[in-house]
Amino acid sequence: MACFFRRSIASKLSRILHQPEDVFISALSAVPVSNKKQTADFRLSIVTLVKDGILTSNGNLQSQTEALLNELKQDSVVEEISIGPGVINFRLHRKLLVQKMLEPLGKEDSFGLNSELFNRLEKGKTLVEFSSPNIAKKFHAGHLRSTMIGNFIANLKRSLGNDVIRMNYLGDWGMQFGMLGAGFEQYGSQEKLKENPLQHLFDVYVQVNREAEINKDIRHAARVFFRHLEHHEVKAMALWQQLREISVKEYQQVYKRLGVHYDIYSGESFHQGQTQEVVQQLHNLGLLKITEKGTGVVDLSPCGDMSSYSTVLCSDGTSLYITRDIAAAIDRKEKYTFHEMIYVTDKSQDNHFHQLFQVLLTMGHSWAQRCRHVSFGLVQGMKTRCGEVIFLEDVLDEARARMLHNMSQSMTTKEMENPEDTAEKVGISALIVQDFKGPLESDYKFDWDRMLQAKGDTGVFLQYTHARLCSLLHMQGNGQELELDPSVLLEPRTISILQHLLCYDEVLYRSAQDLQPKHLVNFLTKLCRLVALALRELPVKGSPPNVAQARLQLFNRTRSVLANGMRILGITPVDKM
Ligand code: ARG
Repeated sequence: MACFFRRSIASKLSRILHQPEDVFISALSAVPVSNKKQTADFRLSIVTLVKDGILTSNGNLQSQTEALLNELKQDSVVEEISIGPGVINFRLHRKLLVQKMLEPLGKEDSFGLNSELFNRLEKGKTLVEFSSPNIAKKFHAGHLRSTMIGNFIANLKRSLGNDVIRMNYLGDWGMQFGMLGAGFEQYGSQEKLKENPLQHLFDVYVQVNREAEINKDIRHAARVFFRHLEHHEVKAMALWQQLREISVKEYQQVYKRLGVHYDIYSGESFHQGQTQEVVQQLHNLGLLKITEKGTGVVDLSPCGDMSSYSTVLCSDGTSLYITRDIAAAIDRKEKYTFHEMIYVTDKSQDNHFHQLFQVLLTMGHSWAQRCRHVSFGLVQGMKTRCGEVIFLEDVLDEARARMLHNMSQSMTTKEMENPEDTAEKVGISALIVQDFKGPLESDYKFDWDRMLQAKGDTGVFLQYTHARLCSLLHMQGNGQELELDPSVLLEPRTISILQHLLCYDEVLYRSAQDLQPKHLVNFLTKLCRLVALALRELPVKGSPPNVAQARLQLFNRTRSVLANGMRILGITPVDKM
């Protein structure tokens, strides 16, 4: 496995340079597979060694590299050592490369997950808050992005050995609930609420807002309803409770289709009772200032001149979105004792989270340094055939329908028991890969046709490759009948797959550092391209048994890494399509 080789080269270097092995681990990287003929597998960056203070920076880099090269000798792991600009290249013994990369693993899916690279990452409990839609309002593209990205982060952290708490923080409080409550009393129907809850609540909400524009009695009723809620009056609370519960149940169904689950459904309502306490604390700490307008603010400017500040209290004494977030963060830290907390929302909330973390730090909560906002760009043009998307379900239905159609048109589609289910899984993978391809902070254009293409960097291509591998392994076995004969897997096609697999732990490491899924998407797409070539050039059927068995072992390992990577992205691999 990659870590065996990295460790072995590091120990060589450690003996020569008299430094612990670990310091060389991060200076070594697997050489990316390219079309150019390439012989090296790992590369040692001399620049990194200088930067890390392992080599002194005086003197010429190239002569230092040469000096080190002269001391390095081949051994049973490395068969060739050569020099490049600022790097030393290592070529592994081919048979050993084959053997180690295809070594049976106890737990199949652990390939690449036990790398020593991850020792440098902080372990501990991670709370990831994501999706967080607002009850009765539209579930917009930003909520879908947050759901997919948050799920990826939670999966990744979990795979790398962190304890993860998955939290959904619903917009279930505030004046909008006054509107909804008052609206429901007017136009609501328990019948319709049972039939199609999210649609009905949305309709009521739209109607009451429209009405409120022209009718001040409605606006008044909404304020009264919200006041009743704030005072926990029984009748208002009962309705609120019912609407919230029904919404959560509905959401859970749709999240299930997406393959997303939560440990906790929290929400703004949970913390409205704590906001006064927060304000009191801010006051006691001397951080709360009352402005001329009567609002309560916290000065966040470096020189104390109010050039930047955060408003935490309205002039009528009610709390704000940020006040509830301050209370929520403190409460979560106490309840869950997380090591780090990650919030996932679109970039329009950058400033909100910046202020939130600053207020927490000013209050003396140094753990706010380990709170992170993962922000992402906007999605343009997310529409279905029926028009604008209001519910998550609409997008999933459309993805499934389109995929089902494409499958029925394709010559390669297999007979299967439940084509809807396959179309659903493949459709969702298309949504995910479209979303994860680029840097998260970029905006992108939602494009049904492009994301559902069978070739190219799409989720469909990943699924198709996975299904092809499954069908091969299903028909021919997984190659475990004979002991592996590494000498029959030395063609360039095979070696480039193995070289590519050598990068897997580095890709995960990079993703864990910047929380960007694009590294993993690119890795898997490239893996699938290499597999497509290999499937064409390395037939199993008709090959001598030792060759056939060895190739099956290669395809088996490849399939399991592909499936594992797809799962981290939040994709459920299909066996047939
Ligand atoms: N409900 C909010 C919205 O839809 C997102 C909540 C983000 N999380 C938070 N802790 N503020 O915009």
